[in-house]
Amino acid sequence: MRVIQHFGSHTLRNVLLATTVICTPTYGYAASGCAPGSTCLSVTAKGAPAPEPAPFIAQCTGAFPDFITRPAMISNGGPLFKLSQSYPSSVPANDAPWLNIKFADGVTGANSYLYALRDYAFDGMIDADFKPEANSVRPWFHMPLMNYGPHPREPVHGLTSERPVTGPELGVKPGVTIHNYAVGFYNAAGAVTIGQVLGGASPDLTKAQFPQGAMTFKILFSDATPNDFQGADILDGAPQWTIATAAGPQLVRLMQMDVAAVDSHSPTGWVFGTFAFDRNATDASPWRRLRPVGLSWGNDFGFTPADQQAGKKLTETTISDQAPAYAASHLGWAGRANGPVDNPISGCLSCHSTAQLPAAPITFPNSCATDAQKMLWFRDLKGTEPFGSVDASCNPITTTPPPKPLDFSLQLSVAVQNVMQFGDINPCSPSASIMNIRVDDHPGEHPRIAR
Ligand code: HEC
Repeated sequence: MRVIQHFGSHTLRNVLLATTVICTPTYGYAASGCAPGSTCLSVTAKGAPAPEPAPFIAQCTGAFPDFITRPAMISNGGPLFKLSQSYPSSVPANDAPWLNIKFADGVTGANSYLYALRDYAFDGMIDADFKPEANSVRPWFHMPLMNYGPHPREPVHGLTSERPVTGPELGVKPGVTIHNYAVGFYNAAGAVTIGQVLGGASPDLTKAQFPQGAMTFKILFSDATPNDFQGADILDGAPQWTIATAAGPQLVRLMQMDVAAVDSHSPTGWVFGTFAFDRNATDASPWRRLRPVGLSWGNDFGFTPADQQAGKKLTETTISDQAPAYAASHLGWAGRANGPVDNPISGCLSCHSTAQLPAAPITFPNSCATDAQKMLWFRDLKGTEPFGSVDASCNPITTTPPPKPLDFSLQLSVAVQNVMQFGDINPCSPSASIMNIRVDDHPGEHPRIAR
């Protein structure tokens, strides 16, 4: 019975499937190099069985892989990432202290709301070094199935590649590119939805609506060295991790933390906000030197860069008075809330409002020339409304069936796109990964979601 504990409250079907895999690895070929007690499989990059020598290794400690990686990436020994995947079946009561705070109440309200989310995320997590299995305060969960394509989870901390930044953007030296990596977490309320969408034999996208109380956060790290900046090292004193990359172990430093919470007071149903590392902050823990940059609860439909230049104010974004200078000067389109590594033609809520299957372009493409066309990406959609489709000339088009909304979760979009559009396989529960509801209308035309 000990094995079953790993799988928590999954459907019985998944528990049985996964247990079978652990006891008798009937699927594929055994590989080595994984954590003790896990099942280690030789697979292709898409998760299909592959004979030794293993082109890729999948580590299974539960129903979904912890990682699928090239053998060289785990050849150094040391601790390996474990996907937290015992998704609960019910939403805990009274576990969302930020819901009492008025996020739209000026800079004071925004700062209080953001710090409430940050401190909730940090509770027990700093001491656990952001390993959910070492946090006894409250459970945290990862999105499964982010293991395929050009940017799979790396095997040490579970990070995925984020948008790189090339100088002079962000004060980086001209021509120098810094690479960024992140790992996201969902609280128990959010993880209920993950389990409902992905815990069965095939994804159930009708369940992709996160409940009040759900929150998710993401910590972002950069490989920028002190020498990469034109001026002072903006990450001086930041927390450091060593991760596995194709080029070998890589030291990365904390730059940004994103938070997002379901809040029924928001017209979109969500509040998205971010923090940036402040080298001048003096908090004892370097993690707590993250300072609020701003938050958005809507997309300020109609607000253009010309409005911003004319000195008009956004009404659904608040920028913090505590934002470090490098972050305050790197906001989104027309000043909407956005983070230091994020694409400045977008904004948190704008990009996340595209979460759907089939995927939509996450930012407006070059074919969208006018502000009116770009404004498609700045509608106050709700999580139950799909973003829709756009043709090559930036005209909205109707498709049948309509795209299925994924409630602002782009990690959920990545996961379902991998299995339903690209046909990637879950090697840890192979039977459960036979997906019947594949996207069959021109799958190649729907862009892979990347940063
Ligand atoms: C240009 C697109 C883009 C922008 C802008 C953007 N994000 Fe995301 N975000 C993504 C993608 C893609 C993912 C999923 C893959 C990943 O984790 O990198 C994601 C993942 C996340 C997650 C993990 C949960 C989830 O929804 O999947 C959070 C939380 C998040 N972003 C918050 C923010 C916040 C806060 C901002 C603004 C500061 C922001 N994002 C700006 C594209 C974007």
